[in-house]
Amino acid sequence: MNKLLLAAVVACIALGAGLSMADGGEHHEGKRPKQLGRNLAQAPAVWKTECGSCHMAYPPGLLPASAWKKQMDNLQNHYGVNATLTAEDEKIIRSYLSTAAASNGPDYSNSKGEPPRITSTGWFVRKHDEISPAIWKRKAVGSAANCQACHSGAANGDFNEDAVRIPR
Ligand code: HEC
Ligand code: HEC
Repeated sequence: MNKLLLAAVVACIALGAGLSMADGGEHHEGKRPKQLGRNLAQAPAVWKTECGSCHMAYPPGLLPASAWKKQMDNLQNHYGVNATLTAEDEKIIRSYLSTAAASNGPDYSNSKGEPPRITSTGWFVRKHDEISPAIWKRKAVGSAANCQACHSGAANGDFNEDAVRIPR
């Protein structure tokens, strides 16, 4: 390797290290899942109607398969409501969620003894740390779980920050 090339390689490695340090918080607090809208086109109708009847049907790419399994194992006590399904629907939805889940395993926590929440993952909290408690409580928002209030494309897995509109 000639000296100039070696210098270029060293520079690239240094730049890479710098970038991954800038990214450091993400590793610590949990990576944002990739491909938030993956496999939505394959969604079974029962998932849309059953898991979208009380809130938007959260794109499965927002949580890893292990978190969705915990969701499905706890439908009788689903954040204070009963969301149980017929055995047949449950089977279809379980199977869909396990295949369409986030593939890169973003962290999640269920420290309050609830099933895992998207809104308590490290990446979610970090991405929304500029939103004040008063904004979350606005009538048009109500809860952090109401993604569509600010992300009009949420149901399609589109959370692009350029399209975010916080309602007044
Ligand atoms: C009977 C109403 C009802 C049904 C049906 C229902 N949910 Fe929920 N779900 C809720 C409520 C209430 C919450 C809590 C919302 C909040 O905190 O603002 C919730 C919260 C959630 C959350 C956590 C949101 C967050 O804060 O990150 C997920 C994930 C979720 N539901 C998935 C599902 C799935 C999957 C199904 C279908 C198997 C489903 N829900 C069906 C009522 C329902
Ligand atoms: C009160 C409005 C509001 C609600 C409700 C909300 N978000 Fe956000 N979200 C934002 C804002 C504002 C940003 C942009 C932050 C920034 O500029 O860095 C954002 C950023 C994001 C990003 C990062 C986008 C990117 O391009 O990196 C994702 C992913 C995301 N939100 C997902 C969600 C999900 C999933 C929900 C529901 C469980 C949700 N959000 C609920 C306002 C909201």
